[in-house]
Amino acid sequence: MKTPKIKLFFLFVTFLGVQLSVAQTHNIQVDFKKNGIPVQKTMYGIFFEDINYGADGGLYAELVKNRSFEFPEHLMGWNTFGKVEVKADGPFKNNPHYIRLAYAGHDEKQTGLDNEGYFGIGVKKDAEYRFSVWAKKASSANGSIRVEIIDTESNVIANAKLDIPSTEWKLYELILKPSRTLPDAKLRIFLTSKSEVDLEHVSLFPVDTWKGRKNGLRKDLAQALYDLKPGVFRFPGGCIVEGTDLNSRYQWKNSIGQVENRTLNENRWQYTFPHRFFPDYYQSYGLGFYEFFQLSEDIGAEPLPVLSCGLACQFQNKDIHAHVPVAELNPYVQDALDLIEFANGDVTTKYGKIRAEMGHPAPFNLKLIAIGNEQWGELYPERLVPFITAIRARHPEIKIIGSAGPSPDGKDFDYGWQEMKRLKADLVDEHYYRSLEWFLSGAARYDKYDRKGPKVFAGEYACHPANRKNNYEAALCEAAFMTGFERNADVVQMCTYAPLFSHVQGWQWKPDLIWFDNLRSVRSVNYYVQQLYGHNAGTNVLTTTENKTALTGQDGIYASSVFDSGRNEIILKIANTSDSEKSVTYHLKGLKTAERKVTKTVLKSTNPDAENSLDNPETVVPKSEEINVPGNDFELKLAPKAFYLLNIKL
Ligand code: AHR
Repeated sequence: MKTPKIKLFFLFVTFLGVQLSVAQTHNIQVDFKKNGIPVQKTMYGIFFEDINYGADGGLYAELVKNRSFEFPEHLMGWNTFGKVEVKADGPFKNNPHYIRLAYAGHDEKQTGLDNEGYFGIGVKKDAEYRFSVWAKKASSANGSIRVEIIDTESNVIANAKLDIPSTEWKLYELILKPSRTLPDAKLRIFLTSKSEVDLEHVSLFPVDTWKGRKNGLRKDLAQALYDLKPGVFRFPGGCIVEGTDLNSRYQWKNSIGQVENRTLNENRWQYTFPHRFFPDYYQSYGLGFYEFFQLSEDIGAEPLPVLSCGLACQFQNKDIHAHVPVAELNPYVQDALDLIEFANGDVTTKYGKIRAEMGHPAPFNLKLIAIGNEQWGELYPERLVPFITAIRARHPEIKIIGSAGPSPDGKDFDYGWQEMKRLKADLVDEHYYRSLEWFLSGAARYDKYDRKGPKVFAGEYACHPANRKNNYEAALCEAAFMTGFERNADVVQMCTYAPLFSHVQGWQWKPDLIWFDNLRSVRSVNYYVQQLYGHNAGTNVLTTTENKTALTGQDGIYASSVFDSGRNEIILKIANTSDSEKSVTYHLKGLKTAERKVTKTVLKSTNPDAENSLDNPETVVPKSEEINVPGNDFELKLAPKAFYLLNIKL
């Protein structure tokens, strides 16, 4: 049968179309130069805030809630039985409350108390747990207590006896070894003597903490931070720096020194979206500024403390009187100067001495300080001025970070930037929690930034898909967007995803980088994006273009590249955010032609909604393979919706 001419025409066009789409390749040129724009060591970092039970109940390995009996009503988190009395003349000035257990005149287990922990107490079979308590006998007869770890039915899974023979306050310790693994155990203490016993600062820690430290950190969570290879560590917040009101702002001086004497603080994240209220959310400050500096050192990140600028959380406080008047800012400015002394001062200085007494005579080598968290409007610059003046005069070596407010654009943002330029802040902290579309269209955001003004610190950012999930599509958008950080490393000098941690039973905010329960933790897909960047930051940017234009989302493609002088390696990053396979041909210019070994790493999923979970922690993880590329020009097929990283050994 004869084919009609019109059909032939369509067949021809279709054939051409297929040919074209098969043949079409993006030609990407990477200009090799050893001394391209330097990538700062601080480039990819982490941001810690005590939100989602990230500190108490999370990274801080203490398992007892309200160990000092200082939460409101003093017994929150505890269930008592028999004759238990709260007393207020304890040995620790800042936490004066303790409890007295008295003989109730009948059988064992007549007087005592149980601690519920944070959503229960997570314990592992045969692992060691250090119970400690400050105690004294309060009557002439010797005192003794029994300490147990119990399940929810009161079955005992570990126990030990403790004699308390002294009328002086003393620290007692013992080790408990549970016979079962439980996520929701309780700690029970009861009096076994016919006498009275006083107990204060009741504590239970796994012996196996991060680096085996007492008062230490939960090992799996600290390890997850270390594994990111972060360049900078921003702490302790976030809104908790500002406080629900000035009283509840984070005061670093309350977070140092003997742990028993650190003043408890309310957590601003007690209150969150209307239906969620966490009345038991307090900050014990057991994880305080000393521990933050120490952790920075452990994980190889520059410490970046954030201090209150005298503004209480501006979202919650619309009344000017909620904030410190500019003329009364001196104590706040002094806090900043004292913090620098605490971190860097000689051991003969007041705060340097405290650091040394806490176990770190060597300075922490602080180089960065942020004044204010998410501040906006005229209230902010006028408060920032006295800090800048004082810090510049005493510590010109310290870089000061100012805020551009909670939004990445708009009137307040523009005003904030204008003021930060006027005040010559070293870096400006931008925050963006935005949609997929915003991230995908924003990869060129920094291409036109002023190169002469302050540098950018993207201090909190995360892509928000529907329900703010930590899903694959959000992670892919972040990976694509971050090529824009890398390409603009002359202006973007630090970025920290936010927030870090979230307890599955107690979250107030998502997405978050790492989720956990009382026994397990899971690294989100977003975590792996951060890790890929953190481990492959490189040292110098390599210009990466198609037809002399940066790849910022044309045809769904985003690309950037760096050279790593230490590893003598070129690192190519490329995201295909489109729904179709793409073919790219890389052309490496400025290099001798050679066949090279390449590690190709891919992060991909066919399910945009895929998430890593505690039960399925490896749903989407990067996969690496070794390949050879024949020379300086080579083709790469990009699967739809995938992020690639190529490490090319030179
Ligand atoms: O990280 C969660 C919150 O988001 C931070 O406290 C605040 O800075 C931002 O609004």
